[in-house]
Amino acid sequence: MWPEEKIQAFRKALLDWYDAAGRDHLPWRLNNDPYRIWVSEIMLQQTQVITVIPYYNRFMALFPSIKELAEAEEDVLLKAWEGLGYYSRVRNLQKAAQQIMADYDGVFPNQPEEIIKLKGIGPYTAGAISSMAFGLPEPAVDGNVMRVFSRVFEIGDDIAKPATRKIFEGLVRVLIDPDRPGDFNQAIMDLGTDICAPKNPRPEESPIKDFNQAYQNGTMHLYPFKSKAKKPVPKTMQGIVIQSGDHFLLEKRPESGLLANFWTFPLVEENWGDWPKIEQINFLVAEPAPLNEEGMHALNTFLDEKVKMTAEQIQPAVGSLTHVFSHRKWHITVHHVVVEGMKEDLPENMQWVSRFDFPDYAFAVPQQKMWEIIWKENRKFLQSF
Ligand code: ADE
Repeated sequence: MWPEEKIQAFRKALLDWYDAAGRDHLPWRLNNDPYRIWVSEIMLQQTQVITVIPYYNRFMALFPSIKELAEAEEDVLLKAWEGLGYYSRVRNLQKAAQQIMADYDGVFPNQPEEIIKLKGIGPYTAGAISSMAFGLPEPAVDGNVMRVFSRVFEIGDDIAKPATRKIFEGLVRVLIDPDRPGDFNQAIMDLGTDICAPKNPRPEESPIKDFNQAYQNGTMHLYPFKSKAKKPVPKTMQGIVIQSGDHFLLEKRPESGLLANFWTFPLVEENWGDWPKIEQINFLVAEPAPLNEEGMHALNTFLDEKVKMTAEQIQPAVGSLTHVFSHRKWHITVHHVVVEGMKEDLPENMQWVSRFDFPDYAFAVPQQKMWEIIWKENRKFLQSF
């Protein structure tokens, strides 16, 4: 490790830059409220700062305190997170808020060992909250932080392996400024998302370039080392958009699994078409898989059995979309079916909903994409209602 003077010089270079260039306008940097910091850290886990800001402001307005979050209706909660994806984040956020109400009298705990017991909070988030809200010299090591330090110290360990994080935590414990631990961690995060970004880094502009061993040795391209993640498993599905006038049939997804409790057009988890070389096509430009005779039969059977209605008009395979989750990739072929009237004798998890009421329902991204396809194809028709 570096001598003490070098550590001090590193802290000074980093924090002087943070003070000059830092983004103190970010809404979660307004004060040290652990609740505000916690919500921002959860949102920022899989989403970029620029996307998070408007969601964050809306979320804080809707749920200004831990108590309000703990007591929120699930539909309202999902609606507030709609489009951000990785919805287990918000479900865990609420469970943790309920834990804080039950176990800590509604007061956010101020010790890392307690913070990490909360649902959805791992070592990174516990470190971020401990340092930013409570001024504790705790490391907050995520992928960005590992990228910065793997270059500074030419560390070649595989950052995809969970054990590697510990190496970086050890380093940060030594380097972190005990007087400004939250700012130190956030300065490294800011460096990691901008000057030391994964693509097109600008190391010559870095406030810590004199400390950056890889930059000095011309080995930047070797760090960080990350082994390849497994590819998400593909699944072919059918999205069935059933319209009656300005009403559409929506289905609430089961309580567990992907998109749990979200409303979608009915999704059938079967392959009716032909996606032959599933990994070889660029699905963003792929034509929807056409429905063959068997597919049409399956669609009609679905209508007979589930919805108990006969179609007046069917546009099979009007479009297709792909949605990538962390471990799954859905290829959805979208079919448009027009029926007359609305049978009320529906399965419990289905409802007829006017398209004018869609804003009241929590729609995840795959649902929004299905709706865009239908809207584009049928705008005139839909607007006639
Ligand atoms: N990414 C994760 N946490 C962050 C923070 N506090 N500020 C900016 N970007 C972040």
